[in-house]
Parts: sequence; structure tokens; C-alpha cells
Amino acid sequence: MCGIVGYAGGRDAQPILIDCLRRLEYRGYDSSGIAVVGDGLHVHKSKGEISALEETMPTMHGHVGIAHTRWATQGKPTTENAHPFADCSSKLAVVHNGIISNFMDLKDALVAEGHVFSSETDTEVFAHLVESELKGDLMEAVRAALKRIEGTYAFAVVSADGAEVVAARDESPLVIGIGDGENFLASDVTALLKYTDRMVYMMDGEVVRLTKDSVTILDREGKKVERQPQKISWNLEDAEKGGYPHFMLKEIFEQPNAIHESLLGRVETLDPEPFFQTGAFTSVKIVACGTSYHAGLAGKYIIEELAKVPTTVQISSEYRYSSVSRENPLIVLVTQSGETLDTIAAAREARKRGHKTVAIANVMGSAITREVDHVIYTRAGPEIGVAATKTFTTQIVAMYLLAMDLATQSRVMGAQARRSMVGQLRNLPRAVQDVLNKADVVEALAKKYSGVKDMYFIGRNINYPMALEGALKTKEISYIHGEGFPAGELKHGPLALISKESPVVAIAIKDHTYEKMLGNISEVTARGSPVIAIGYEGDTELGKYADEVLTVREVPPIFSPVPVIVTLQLWSYYLARERGCPVDKPRNIAKTVTVE
Ligand code: AGP
Repeated sequence: MCGIVGYAGGRDAQPILIDCLRRLEYRGYDSSGIAVVGDGLHVHKSKGEISALEETMPTMHGHVGIAHTRWATQGKPTTENAHPFADCSSKLAVVHNGIISNFMDLKDALVAEGHVFSSETDTEVFAHLVESELKGDLMEAVRAALKRIEGTYAFAVVSADGAEVVAARDESPLVIGIGDGENFLASDVTALLKYTDRMVYMMDGEVVRLTKDSVTILDREGKKVERQPQKISWNLEDAEKGGYPHFMLKEIFEQPNAIHESLLGRVETLDPEPFFQTGAFTSVKIVACGTSYHAGLAGKYIIEELAKVPTTVQISSEYRYSSVSRENPLIVLVTQSGETLDTIAAAREARKRGHKTVAIANVMGSAITREVDHVIYTRAGPEIGVAATKTFTTQIVAMYLLAMDLATQSRVMGAQARRSMVGQLRNLPRAVQDVLNKADVVEALAKKYSGVKDMYFIGRNINYPMALEGALKTKEISYIHGEGFPAGELKHGPLALISKESPVVAIAIKDHTYEKMLGNISEVTARGSPVIAIGYEGDTELGKYADEVLTVREVPPIFSPVPVIVTLQLWSYYLARERGCPVDKPRNIAKTVTVE
């Protein structure tokens, strides 16, 4: 996720672009850059937050320009990899939000034609593509270049010779702000509200030419699009959260797209290159903290089922001080921030012990990425809410990809099974969207139970880690005491805690443990405790056992953690909101824990 802005008007573009860009910093903050068209094209970029750009940039005069704040997905967060990118002639500048999945092939072809590249990014390819298509009309050159691109994008392009910004979108957001004698462009309305409240939302496949006095939109076929501006009544603070009351809710709702981005370019072919060329492993050890540890626990079930490789999971701070065993497992370190000290220390320890290491991380260039042999990025975009949501579901997606890799390398998974996995993975965003569409049902139920002091979560098999994660989310943001158990363990102790005052959330999807789960639900209801069950749509049995039923779309059981946990994220969110808790910043907890 990155933020882009554009301006064409009568005022100096530089201060307006920087002001707009600041409001998009939540979309990415590892580097930024600006291009202004005046007497020629002026480009300036800097590593770090937008303040670093402001401190180093010279005054640039000109009435047209573009700017970008980056959240790296391809290429490290360095000044060289910051946007905008110029073509060989330095007459074009391009900013981009999205991922070009066929960029390697395009880059090879462009290099063969003599183009010279200065970065590791996918975006730079587009600057050179436009250059090679440019025959006078910038908009036509952009349209021609887009035909060669696969992936997702919001692009904005300026040329040293023109008083226009040309932009395009496909699956990445882009909105046009209509002013008087000036027009704007941004990744979301937040950036533009100070300047105008009249917005035109661009649709997938559309290209726009923006000048001081005109806005021309063409659809994918090149037909002119007439669309009236909408008047936006949000205040600035509302807009930063995209109209959601909290970042956590916004991030929960971003999950279909986050999962889609995580998969992009990785499951396109049936026999892709594995992520790492280390050969087959006889065992895997996953090391992580908190929510990432729960993703690791889910990973154990996924890897053992798909790749048949024995997998253990350990808390980072425990691994670090554990004794050395004779095993030589692949060590997988899971950390969304990439800065958790316990996990970084565990990575160092693993390397000291001579193990191969892989990190599953969300923040490109974060500390963990320098400590391991290989990184799988989750591409969820920046997560502002302290409670991990979209980074968790994309960690689980990374586990499917890793398991498929291990299975392919050890020849445990054939082409047919892989094809079916890929199909199911591609359906995941829809299963999540279904849950989000029914958020009001979860909200109503959470309101009913928001007054309790204790709440228990039970599940079996791959949904046991989801019970743990549901409990962690609940205690973390609603301050209700939440505990998760494997349902089969209830009778070995926790049943003593069950009472009328402590509802139990039971995950009971139709897998090989379903009948046992029904038995566990009965054990609980027999003691007077209300049960809120999460099951598959169309399950008519569950309602006979549980007091309340929340449903998710039926998916093969191995994929069920994803829609199940989204339901539990909503559940904990609405509990916290009803109790008036500071959802995005729970007491005593930091987003990134850099102490031991
Ligand atoms: C999750 O909601 C928590 N904020 C916390 O458990 C978190 O997952 C943990 O601190 C690990 O963070 P990491 O993924 O950045 O390493």
C-alpha cells in the first residue's frame, strides 16, 4: 500500500503536493518523493518519512506535479527505490501504488531494447514502457503501456513537455478532486478535503487526463466517461480512517484486498519457482510472539497436512533460551512488524545454531529481514491499530504458500492438488467479504454479551489456534478476560470455570472433529453457560446445540481459519466498542515490542 497525489492548477504545486501527501502517510512511510513540472522536470526523493523529504528538497517552481509515499513491496526502502521514477530521457516521471506481477519479463525486454534502470522496483518498468510508447500524446502512451501490464495499479505520470497529469487505476484506489481552475488526484479523499469537497471516484480500467481546467476520463476501450462529482461531507479525522470509526475496523474490512495482494503473482502458474531453493526439509520449527505465534500454530496444521513435514511451534523468547537439539529444522520466524526484539534475537540464535531461516514479515526492510536467509512478505499494507488483524490473515496465507512450496519440493503435492489449492486460495477474499457483509449480525450479538467479565473460546484441530487468537483479541481490546482452549481439554480442568456468567465461543465447522465439538458444546450448555457457535452456512444441526450461531461460507476445513478469525476479529471489536474501550490503542500495549 502506498499513497499517491497529483496536481494541475494555477498555484505552486510543491507545497500543495506535500500537504496532500502528509495526509496519506498512514498508507506508507518508508520513503517518499515528488516531481514538479516547471522549467523542465524536477524530481526529488528521500528515504524515511515525509519530513525527511521536506528537509532535503529544494524549492521547485511549477504548477503541475505528482508525489508519492511508499510502503515497499518490491525492492528495499531506499532513496533509489523511492518514487517517482524517470525514463531514460528524464522527461517522464511516474508514481505507482500496486504490484506489477509481470515486471521481470517486461524489464528483461526493455533492457534488451537498451533501456537503463536505476532501481529494483517493479514501477520503474512503467516509466520505460511509457517512454517507448510515447509518440506525442501522453494519455495514449499510458494507455498503450497499460496493455502490457499485469497486476494492480494506480499510476500517475507527468511529462516535462506538458501541463497535465495522466493517471490510471485498476484495483488500487484513485480519486479525482475537482477545484476551481485546479484539479487534484489522490489515493483517497483524505488527502484532498482541505482543497475541495467535490470528488470523482475512478473505476477499474479507467485513465484520466487532468489539466488546470479539464478532467477527461476514458474507459478501458477508450470511450469517454461522463461522471458527475460527488460532494463529500466527511471531516478530516473521519476521512483518515476512510469513514470507519477506528483503524482496527478499517483494517478488518481491508482483508479481502490484503489477501488478494498477498497472493498476487505467487499462484498464477501451477508450477511456480519455489520461494527458496534450499531443498526438502525433514522438519520445520516456527518461532513467533502473540498473534504471529497463533499464525505459526495454524501453520503447523497447514504444513503437516499439505507437505507432511513435522512442524513444531515455539514462542520466540522461549526458543532463544532453549537447549540445542540434534534436529536441523527450517526455522520460520513470523513477525508482522519485523522489529519484535524477541523474534529478532531468536533469528540470530537460529543462525548461530546453523539453521536455514525464513521470515514471514509485513514491513519491507525491517530488522528481521536482515537477519534471515529468505523473506516472504505478507503485503498487507501498514497496520495502524495495535490489534493485528489483516497482518494475521495474510500470515496464514503465507503459511499456505510456504506449505505448497515445501510440498512441491518434496514432491508430496502433485499438479492436480496444487491446482485445487490455488483455486481455493483465490476464493478466500470472497469468503472474507461474505463475513464482512454480515458484520451487523456479529455487532448485535456482541452488544448482547458485552457486559460479561470472562469469556472462553474453544476449537479443535486447525481452529484451536483461532480459539487462542479470538481470546487474545478479546482481552487485548475489550479488557474482558478471554481464554482459549482445545475443546478436548475442557474436561481436564477448564470446565471448573464454566458458569452462567461466562459465555463460551465454540468454533464448530464441519470437519472430522465436528461431532466431538457438538459433544463439547453440550458439556458447556449442561452447566448453564451460553454458547455462541461459529459454523458453516447451511448447518441446521448447530442451532440445536448452541444458544447463538454465527455462520461463515463453507470452505475446505484447512481454509476455515480465515473466515472464522475475521468473525472473531469483528466480535472482539464490537465488544470493545460497546464497552467504550480505546480500540486502536489498548492500555499498556505497543504496536511493536522492541524490548525483551
Ligand atoms: C496482536 O494483536 C498483538 N498486538 C501482539 O500479540 C503481536 O502480535 C506481537 O507483539 C507480535 O508482533 P509482531 O508480529 O510484530 O512480531
